[in-house]
Amino acid sequence: MTAVALDGRALAVKIVASLKPRLAALPRAPRLLVVAASADAEAQSYRRQQLKACREAGIETSLAEKLPSPSGFKEYDAVIIDRPLPAGVDAQKLFDSLPPEQDAEGATAYNLGRLYALKRYDDFRAQGLVGPCTALAIAELARETRVPLAGKAAAVIGRSNIVGKPAAHLLSCLDLTVTLCHSKTRDLATIVAGSDVVVAATGRPGMIEAGWIKPGAIVIDAGITMRGKNVVGDVDPAAAQKASHYTPVPGGVGPVTTAMLLANTVTLAERALEKR
Ligand SMILES: NC(=O)c1ccc[n+]([C@@H]2O[C@H](COP(=O)([O-])OP(=O)(O)OC[C@H]3O[C@@H](n4cnc5c(N)ncnc54)[C@H](OP(=O)(O)O)[C@@H]3O)[C@@H](O)[C@H]2O)c1
Repeated sequence: MTAVALDGRALAVKIVASLKPRLAALPRAPRLLVVAASADAEAQSYRRQQLKACREAGIETSLAEKLPSPSGFKEYDAVIIDRPLPAGVDAQKLFDSLPPEQDAEGATAYNLGRLYALKRYDDFRAQGLVGPCTALAIAELARETRVPLAGKAAAVIGRSNIVGKPAAHLLSCLDLTVTLCHSKTRDLATIVAGSDVVVAATGRPGMIEAGWIKPGAIVIDAGITMRGKNVVGDVDPAAAQKASHYTPVPGGVGPVTTAMLLANTVTLAERALEKR
């Protein structure tokens, strides 16, 4: 079987187009502050993509080296802090210094708590929630397959607070039965082989072997690792021969992640401007 490639760029265009009426209904353009906390080359390239996508969609952006003073937050509807963070930084402490109502990545404890209280994915928008962009992108890509997901088995490999853990929760909100795997998981190959949806989020290139994939499974690869000038994912590309759908790397999860940042920013601007 040759899988359908899930085109993240096309889905991103669709998501951003769906934001247009919401942007047009606002009294002014949303304002996003990007805090350039990371000197990492990949983070800088991702930042350039974010800024370009925002500008094209009509979101005003500013760039700062560090977080503004507490009163300075008022100038913005949304704030995102670049990753990876410099070594030694307590990530949750840093994210919790953001006001939850300006947290463009849904990374504060308050917004994560709201997210984990969600039961049905369809209620995410209705409740005006924001969430970790890559986890949201994974859920959007799973839905984009149009394959009925309810009751099926999913394996998420990687349990970070920003990708694996919230992705596992969102997939459970899509009624999948989810196994959350990590570096201490025993017999990962058997868990993956029994899964209809496989999400890889480890940053370990090729660690998910093609032979593990159940024929017809949906494979979503969030992994990003630079190999020379190339970006590679966590899943052996030969898995495309067994899957029904797979995300290419690059061009799969990445562009949808950026689109979800725009969606979070619009949600926060709507909330802020409706209150004023
Ligand atoms: N596409 C995008 O837009 C996007 C956005 C963000 C991140 N990413 C990428 O996604 C990947 C994961 O990012 P992250 O921030 O979640 O990374 P992270 O914080 O380093 O977490 C990696 C996770 O992988 C698990 N793991 C490591 N080795 C494993 C193994 N041999 N077997 C099973 N699990 C293993 C770790 O388990 P333990 O918890 O036991 O250590 C951990 O939970 C990275 O490649 C990153 O670049 C992509």
